[in-house]
Amino acid sequence: IDKDKIRNFSIVAHVDHGKSTLADRLLELTGVIKPGTEQTQVLDQLQVERERGITVKAVTASLNYTYENKTYLLNLIDTPGHVDFSNEVVRSVTACQGVILLVDANEGVQAQTVAVHSLAKRNNMTIIPTLNKIDLPRADPDKVKTQLKSLFNFDPETVMSISAKKGWGVKELLEAIIKRIPPPPVSSDGHFRAHIIDTWHDKYRGVLCLAYIHSGKIQIGQAVKWLSETKQQTVKSLALLRPKEEPIDEATAGQVVMVGCGPKGGGSVGDQLLSTDYPLKEISTSTNHVKHMVYAGIFPADQSQHTLLSDAIKKLALNDSAVSMHPDSSPALGQGWRVGFLGLLHLDVFTQRLLQEYKAEAILTAPSVPYKVKVKGAKIIKQYKGDEVIITNPLLLPDPNNIEEYYEPFVIGTIITPVEYIGPVTTLCLDRRGSPLPTSAVDDKNTLMQFILPLSEIVVDFHDTLKSITSGFASFDYQDHGFHPSALARMDILLNGVLVEELSTIVHVSRLEYNARRLTEKLKEMIPRQMVQVAIQAVVGGKVYARETLKAYRKDVTAKLYGGDVTRRKKLLKQQAEGKKKMRSVANIKIPRNTFIDVLKR
Ligand code: GTP
Repeated sequence: IDKDKIRNFSIVAHVDHGKSTLADRLLELTGVIKPGTEQTQVLDQLQVERERGITVKAVTASLNYTYENKTYLLNLIDTPGHVDFSNEVVRSVTACQGVILLVDANEGVQAQTVAVHSLAKRNNMTIIPTLNKIDLPRADPDKVKTQLKSLFNFDPETVMSISAKKGWGVKELLEAIIKRIPPPPVSSDGHFRAHIIDTWHDKYRGVLCLAYIHSGKIQIGQAVKWLSETKQQTVKSLALLRPKEEPIDEATAGQVVMVGCGPKGGGSVGDQLLSTDYPLKEISTSTNHVKHMVYAGIFPADQSQHTLLSDAIKKLALNDSAVSMHPDSSPALGQGWRVGFLGLLHLDVFTQRLLQEYKAEAILTAPSVPYKVKVKGAKIIKQYKGDEVIITNPLLLPDPNNIEEYYEPFVIGTIITPVEYIGPVTTLCLDRRGSPLPTSAVDDKNTLMQFILPLSEIVVDFHDTLKSITSGFASFDYQDHGFHPSALARMDILLNGVLVEELSTIVHVSRLEYNARRLTEKLKEMIPRQMVQVAIQAVVGGKVYARETLKAYRKDVTAKLYGGDVTRRKKLLKQQAEGKKKMRSVANIKIPRNTFIDVLKR
């Protein structure tokens, strides 16, 4: 196919502004699905996506559309809207020359609209601003056009208006895609090179890849190689995704196709597939490094499920290249993993997929963020090849005497809110150690506020709190702002003077007292009374910040029994012994596994 007849684009929007509904309409108009079929939101294939109504994995669909007697190949590269999945968005946009920026004509511009707009802008993409849901009686297209003008400087004349639900204006939008978005800037001469934007696993055919072809062409049976390894491969599967597979024999530069090299063929996101004679020196190998913002421990619900969970996590990680995994173990929770995520929604979706797609039950510890420290003097930390260390496990924090500077990750949070909530939103953000940036008016009723916030302050319940103090009206999105100097310390929990490793945390110094009190009180409530008195202490560098005392209590399981029924008595003692196996013992203090789960869980 002639590359001038190819258009690669995606739809970006705030959650619920109608991306999937529009994708369905585009599929109908191009004859991929019959209008009015039951199966809506064809692109949202994963069960979790259907349940949550959000798009998680980027999926593509190749559509044919005839305009002015020419047939075009339109590649819709579906992107997840949420920030957490912005690495999926970023991967997809490398293959796109344009985006449809969809905005709900009733709700107007939201925080995420701002984020996806700046992403598209940064990548020099053609943006087609489009109002959706104009069928709604409360839709106010003129107001939203004014917002688009004042925030992004879009000429109101260029803004498209559609109702994805009713199909209004969708044909005009398809034509705008053809007219306004440029064809891919590639050449079909020369050596074949494609880069992988997605992978998934097929039982019989091994790894299947979604590839964007930069140059040359590819055929079934052709010999190819991965940039990452020298072994030669053969192209075994080649197809267009419409979005069902449509096998093809050949594909050329500018196209987005599915490629597979058989069960042992391999392939991973970010890798490149090349013709065997490709001049390697022409390739820049800069890879898009994923940055993990949130870490959590994942442990099997019980150790007999370890293998099951391990298999499940590995398979899921193949499909979700953004997670990082390291084995981790805890005396209380057993063998597990420390997993890095891009954000909280990413973590949520990952565990939900684990359950739904792989039937693995997992315990998740409270999420934490990575910190960074600079070590004093000329000390070089070997494994990091320098004097700066990223700390994802509080126990690995170097001795404070050796630390020159602590750093914590910050984000720029964008909040769009009705003006009457400016006060409470400001209070919330200042309370979370935020520093305000200049605000701008969205229109006469709404304002765009920005704050520099420590990531650790938003990972747990920021979004929920924001929603509740603004009656659900504010929207929030964030982008990475890097590591900045901070005052941090490690807080340990001691039981009768003995450290409980699982409960150590890294805390901002302004939060020490509050966290110390909260955690010791919670532990006092949850640890069952013991034969001895237990001192629960929260300690920072030898200084006690909070202390609770759990009174001694002798529990005699056989006390209730009278008379001499020996077998009954034995049975009770045996039950008690089995119960003890599920206990973690610290300084002879028995703590049930469930206590750890409750304290460590989100
Ligand atoms: P995420 O994948 O979570 O980002 O959502 P989305 O942007 O894909 O939104 P989706 O297509 O799921 O639409 C959200 C809701 O808006 C659904 O209930 C749709 O039926 C509804 N909706 C979408 N387009 C229109 C429209 O043009 N008019 C009206 N009235 N409702 C619409």
